[in-house]
Amino acid sequence: MKQTMISGTGRYLPTRLVTNDDLALWMDTSDEWIRQRTGIEQRYWVPEEGGVGASDLGFEASKIALDRAGWRPDDIDLIIFATLSPDFNFPGSGCLLQHKLGLETTPALDIRQQCSGFVYGIATADAFIRSGLYNRILFVGAEVHSTGLDISSRGRDVTVIFGDGAGALCLEGAEPDRTCGVMASVLHSQGEFSSSLMTEAPVSRQNPRLSEAMLREGRHYPTMDGRSVFKHAVRRLPLVAQEALDKAGLTLSDIDLFIPHQANLRINQAFQKAMDLPDEKIFNNIQRYGNTTAASIPIAFDEAIEKGLLKTGSTVMFLGLGAGLTWGAVIYRFAG
Ligand SMILES: CC(C)(COP(=O)(O)OP(=O)(O)OC[C@H]1O[C@@H](n2cnc3c(N)ncnc32)[C@H](O)[C@@H]1OP(=O)(O)O)[C@@H](O)C(=O)NCCC(=O)NCCS
Repeated sequence: MKQTMISGTGRYLPTRLVTNDDLALWMDTSDEWIRQRTGIEQRYWVPEEGGVGASDLGFEASKIALDRAGWRPDDIDLIIFATLSPDFNFPGSGCLLQHKLGLETTPALDIRQQCSGFVYGIATADAFIRSGLYNRILFVGAEVHSTGLDISSRGRDVTVIFGDGAGALCLEGAEPDRTCGVMASVLHSQGEFSSSLMTEAPVSRQNPRLSEAMLREGRHYPTMDGRSVFKHAVRRLPLVAQEALDKAGLTLSDIDLFIPHQANLRINQAFQKAMDLPDEKIFNNIQRYGNTTAASIPIAFDEAIEKGLLKTGSTVMFLGLGAGLTWGAVIYRFAG
């Protein structure tokens, strides 16, 4: 069985900077509240007039990752696209990206695992590579949240959290080597808590799926039981981190850097405390980007590499929890 290696990364953020003070012009909130409760100082959103979808952001991040990997688009055997904000309800954004990359019949699949889109996506890519079915996989996590958020005070608890953006990774099968590559992945879900964080409409169990009444009630906007999600994250993340370490046969001190999903700085600080990690072992950038869901870990990973925090032989753990509920962790070691 081959080992899954990462050959290139890329990120792309849209250019419209939205500060907390900007949000306070539209809804009853404040810079102080947002910083205190979430750590977020600003985020980037696509242009207000529209015209930019998740596949467009994903395309920009992909071009950078492909370039760094030294791949041409037709080197790609499979595209895995993680998003909760696809360009259309269907077809998936992976197909749209495939066309934008100038490819003709390369397979593409979408993963709808929200904030766990990265860990689910990498675990899926790793399984395809190990099975021998595909050798070169482009993973993309991309979100356009801003066009689907309630920017009135009704939506303030959710809206202040989310940012738009994209991250991409080129994953490739290499000859087996037990000491590097994807070392372990662990995935979980718990549908019992599906209503804790969801966008309900359009809803297939209702006819029509979207009515004027539903629009008036704002049922097409995301809703969240923030406290419940927070509690689950703080409890689950240390457990899943340990589970991944056990699976890889590693200990905490073997991990050079933890890159958690960027949902809320306080969640990551609670994780850091629970695991007794020094500041230099955990990477956060939610302050600048907000929560970009499936894009948050690949954006952070790309930045961590750029800052020289990860190099030859480094071991990194990615982990996250989000809507579903879904959560998981992946351990990756760079070639030594
Ligand atoms: C959403 C979250 C920041 C709210 O923080 P919190 O400390 O739990 O705050 P609460 O929900 O208890 O709300 C406290 C008060 O602030 C108010 N409030 C909510 N959003 C606000 C905002 N943007 N600005 C100002 N006040 C706000 C609430 O209405 C409430 O007011 P009340 O006390 O008068 O009823 C926090 O619960 C969280 O981050 N949860 C995890 C969410 C998450 O990770 N989501 C993504 C998962 S992938």
